[in-house]
Order: sequence, then structure tokens, then C-alpha cells
Amino acid sequence: MKKLSLDRILQNQGFGTRKGCRGLVEDGDVTIAGEVVTDYKREFDPTGLEFTVFDEPWLYREHVYIALNKPANFECSRKPSHHPGVHTLLPEQFTWRDVQPVGRLDHDTTGLLLLSDHGAFIHAQSHPKHHQPKVYVATLAEPADQSLADALLAGVKLADEPAPLAAQVAKLIDPTHIEIVIDQGKYHQVKRMLAAAGNHCAALARVQIGGLTLAALDLAEGEWCYLDEEQLAILNSEA
Ligand code: URA
Repeated sequence: MKKLSLDRILQNQGFGTRKGCRGLVEDGDVTIAGEVVTDYKREFDPTGLEFTVFDEPWLYREHVYIALNKPANFECSRKPSHHPGVHTLLPEQFTWRDVQPVGRLDHDTTGLLLLSDHGAFIHAQSHPKHHQPKVYVATLAEPADQSLADALLAGVKLADEPAPLAAQVAKLIDPTHIEIVIDQGKYHQVKRMLAAAGNHCAALARVQIGGLTLAALDLAEGEWCYLDEEQLAILNSEA
């Protein structure tokens, strides 16, 4: 990759304004290969570049692809109104890099949320044509039997939708838990489908997107990780 000056590298990795990044370098807060570099004009090939800022190690990443185990009471909106935003669970460098959620989970929904600063990835993952199946586990307010799963599979009519919406999969786990798979992302879709089928969602967790399961990522609530090549390939493969 083309060499870039250190101030530019730091800026595009989310360490603040160009001026702020120059200040970090001049103050001796940045090292590369164990050496404090104080000349911000010095150029480096960013590919695979490892550096530290305030002794914290970083790897140059052209884009970041992240999975977060979202806790309840965090909003996916960039300008949250009632709860903190999910970005507060991530390093502030990601906000500078404009890392955004891929689609949204409601503030009270927990589980797997993808985030990235790569517009094409966000677009591809959230585009309805991609048909990325999303697996949810809903806790039901009322005990249910197989007829609830049958109703969701047959399709339920939502107020603002022209045609009934059906779950791809609806499996009763026990009388108060149901697994639901949908490949669209309409507003409050799972909760509204459950309400339309005569029950009520007491809690909702997303446990899988495409072939990527939250369990495989082994993240505690509020924890995040970078997605590796293999995990990205799973997400990018056709459902
Ligand atoms: N369906 C919902 O109702 N809420 C979510 O957060 C996700 C899917």
C-alpha cells in the first residue's frame, strides 16, 4: 500500500483531528516498532503496521468490522435520546472513524450487533436483497403452544404492511421462549409479529446473523471483538 505520513495514518485510524494527531506524535506518545517517532511527516506503509498510542497497541486497519454483544438499555441511534448509544461501549477511535451499526436493534433488544466503518459492507449486509437470515430468541409474556409457531410460519398481517409477513423458522423452545428467523428488518418486526399472533414479547435477543452465531464469538454482554477474515467470509457468503 502507498506510504502515508504518520499524522495521516493516525487520523484515519480515529485518533482525532490532523492537528491533534500531530500533537500526539510531537509529544512522544506514539511508537512504531518500539521506537518513539516524533516526526509526524515520517511516512510508513500502513499495511499491517503495528503502533502504540499512550502505550496501547494498535494494528492499522483500513476498515473495522466489529461484533458487539449488545446489552439492554443502549440505543443504536447516532443521536440517542433516552439511553446511551452503543458507541459508548466501544473505543472512541471508532466514533472518530464513523463506525455505525449494521441495521438497528431496539434499545431493549440484546445480542449480536455488527458495526463497521465500511459503507459497502453496511449496505450489502443491510440490503433486503442479501436475505441475511437473523435468528432471534423471544421471551413470551404469555405461555404459548405450537399454534403460535404455526401462526408465525403461516404469516401475520402487520398494520402498515400490504402482505402478511411470515417467519422463515418459528420453533417453540419451551412455553415461554420461541426462536424466530426472519430475513427482513422491518421496524420492531419480531415484536409486532408476536403481537399480531396474539402474544407479547417480554424480551428479545438476536443470537445469529447469517452463519455467524453469538455463541461462537463468546462475548459477555457489552463486550465486542473484531471480526476475522473467516467470520467475514461467513457473513458475506450467500444465505
Ligand atoms: N425485531 C424487533 O422487534 N426488535 C428488534 O430489535 C429486532 C427485531
